[in-house]
Amino acid sequence: MSDTGSRRRKLLVLPGDGIGPEVMREVKRVIDWMERRRGAAFEVEEDLVGGAAIDARGTPLAESTVRLARDADAVLFGAVGGPAWEHLGFDMRPEIAILRLRSELGLFANLRPAIVHDPLVSASTLKPEVVRGLDMMIVRESTGGIYFGEPRGVEDLPGGGKRGFNTESYSTHEIERVGRVAFDLARRRKKRVASVEKSNVMESGLLWRQTMTALRDEEYPDVALTHVLADNCAMQLVRAPSQFDVIVTTNLFGDLLSDLAAMLTGSLGMLPSATLGAMVDGKRHALYEPIHGSAPDIAGRGTANPLAQILSFALLLRYSFDMEETALEIEGAVLRVLGNGLRTPDIMAPGAARVGTGVMGEAVLRELEKASG
Ligand code: IPM
Ligand code: MG
Repeated sequence: MSDTGSRRRKLLVLPGDGIGPEVMREVKRVIDWMERRRGAAFEVEEDLVGGAAIDARGTPLAESTVRLARDADAVLFGAVGGPAWEHLGFDMRPEIAILRLRSELGLFANLRPAIVHDPLVSASTLKPEVVRGLDMMIVRESTGGIYFGEPRGVEDLPGGGKRGFNTESYSTHEIERVGRVAFDLARRRKKRVASVEKSNVMESGLLWRQTMTALRDEEYPDVALTHVLADNCAMQLVRAPSQFDVIVTTNLFGDLLSDLAAMLTGSLGMLPSATLGAMVDGKRHALYEPIHGSAPDIAGRGTANPLAQILSFALLLRYSFDMEETALEIEGAVLRVLGNGLRTPDIMAPGAARVGTGVMGEAVLRELEKASG
C-alpha cells in the first residue's frame, strides 16, 4: 500500500491484434482495481498498432503512436499479426510495429524469463523431473543483428531467379551494453551467464564471444561465464535446462531459443517479457509484452490465457514504476489462481477446472481483493 504514491504514471497501452485486445482487457481490470482500491494514479493512453492500425490508418505504427510511446513512462504491448495481413510487403506488415518500437525507443535488451511454476509442472511436454524448479532468464539483444542489418533485400539475378539477403552484424558497443544487462541480472541471481552465438561459423559470433570474455574479465570477475554454440544451446535446453541461469544472445538466436525455453514451462500463455533501453537522465524507455503472439487461431473465442499479459503488467510495475510490492501481489494472485486449479485450455491438466479469459481475469482480481482484506 506504501507502493502507490501520488505521481501520475504515464502508461501507453497497445493491445494490437488477435488475442491481444482480449488479454489486455483483463489487465485493464487490474488497473481499474488498483485505482479504485489502492488510489494508484495512472495516466493511461491507448492506441492501435499492427494489423488494427493498418486497417484504420494504413500503417502498422503511426508517427503519433511513436510519439506517445516516447512520451510514456512505460508501454504495455499486446500482440500483432494475423493471416489478414500476411500478403503485405515487409515494411507494411503488422510485425513492423513491434520492431520499430524496439528500435525507435532504443530497447536493446529483451528479458525473457522461463519459470516453471510448481502447479504447472505437468503442463510441460518434458518430464517433470527435467523442468521442476526451472528459473532462467534469456537476455535477447533486440535492436541489432540480422533483424536490422544492412544490406538487406531481394534482387533479380541476371540469369533469372532472385536472391534474398540479410546481414548479421554486431559492434563492440552493441555487444557490451546487452552483456552488462545480463551480467547485472546474474549478480542478483546465481551469478552464471551463458553467452550464445555461432563463433564456429560467423565472424560476428566470434566478436561476440571475445567481447563477452573481455567484459567479464574487466567488469564482472565475480560472475561465471560460459560460451555455448547456439545449436548446442538448443539441445542443452531440452536435455537439462536447469544448468542455465542467465543466457545472453543475439536477436535471432534469442528469438528461437526464447520460444524453446518458454515451451519448457508448458505454455507460452504464461510468460511475460520486458524490453529495456538505456538509462538516460534517470529515465529508461521500456516496453512489456507477453511472449506469445496474436494467436489468430483462437482469437475471438474468449479462451486465451490472460496471465502472460497480466504478468507483463507486473513486470512493468516492478521495473518502470518501482512498485515491487504490487508486482509481487499480482504475481502471488496468479500463482494462487493456478494453485486453486483454474486452467485456460493451453495449460489444461487432468482434474483442473477449464475456464476462459474473462473467468481467469476475474479469479486474479478476486485473489487480489482477498489478499488486501
Ligand atoms: C518475438 C516475435 C517478434 C520477433 C515478431 C513478431 C517480429 O517473434 O517478439 O519474439 O521476431 O522478434
Ligand atoms: Mg519470437
